[in-house]
Amino acid sequence: MAENHEREMQRNHFFEAHAHQWEERNYTPEKLAQVDHMVAGLGLGSGMSILDVGCGDGVLQPFLRKHSGKDARLFALDASSAMLESVSVRFPDVQTFHARAESMPLPDASIDVLICFSAFPHFSDKPAAVREFYRVLKQGGTAYVLHIDGREKLNALHDKHHEVEGDHLPCPTGMRLLFVEAGFAHTSADESAEHYYFSARK
Ligand SMILES: C[S@@+](CC[C@H](N)C(=O)[O-])C[C@H]1O[C@@H](n2cnc3c(N)ncnc32)[C@H](O)[C@@H]1O
Repeated sequence: MAENHEREMQRNHFFEAHAHQWEERNYTPEKLAQVDHMVAGLGLGSGMSILDVGCGDGVLQPFLRKHSGKDARLFALDASSAMLESVSVRFPDVQTFHARAESMPLPDASIDVLICFSAFPHFSDKPAAVREFYRVLKQGGTAYVLHIDGREKLNALHDKHHEVEGDHLPCPTGMRLLFVEAGFAHTSADESAEHYYFSARK
């Protein structure tokens, strides 16, 4: 537990330190086009409550708005205050939460769609985070774990940085087990060397 806490502090420090211009430094126009395409395929709709967990500085937000319409309610949650400051400046219509995925300050059954993009490997207590996903989703709501990199490439990249070393994305079978144990009924997974897609419906 003490080891976990120390690792979590290191990781948080890493993201706080790298928050400045995170999107500019990590997303080329080609990658942003991939993100756009990925979000377009989620079937978002008008009036939905959409929660971006591990939102960083908000790379998903313009695409969530574009594909859900002006009536959608957008929420963004992250453990890094520096990342969230950037979200608030760039997207004032988005309600932000400074919190861990493992303990989210949102009411039960309040969210239609929860998206965890490029963040799940970093959650130190993954079963607790998935239980929180289940709790905050409405009945029939969907959780997504998404990446525009393949799992092996991503895991190897994390292992190159001491602060996020070992932050691995579970294989689809492991991910399914996590979600089924939390109560999710219907899951779907697809991965390649270039992407990772997992969805689960409450
Ligand atoms: C690799 S960044 C990705 C950010 C953003 N989704 C993107 O693609 O640009 C991972 C994010 O997860 C956040 N994070 C790490 N552990 C977290 C936790 N336990 N709960 C919530 N956010 C966390 C970090 O602060 C960081 O902003």
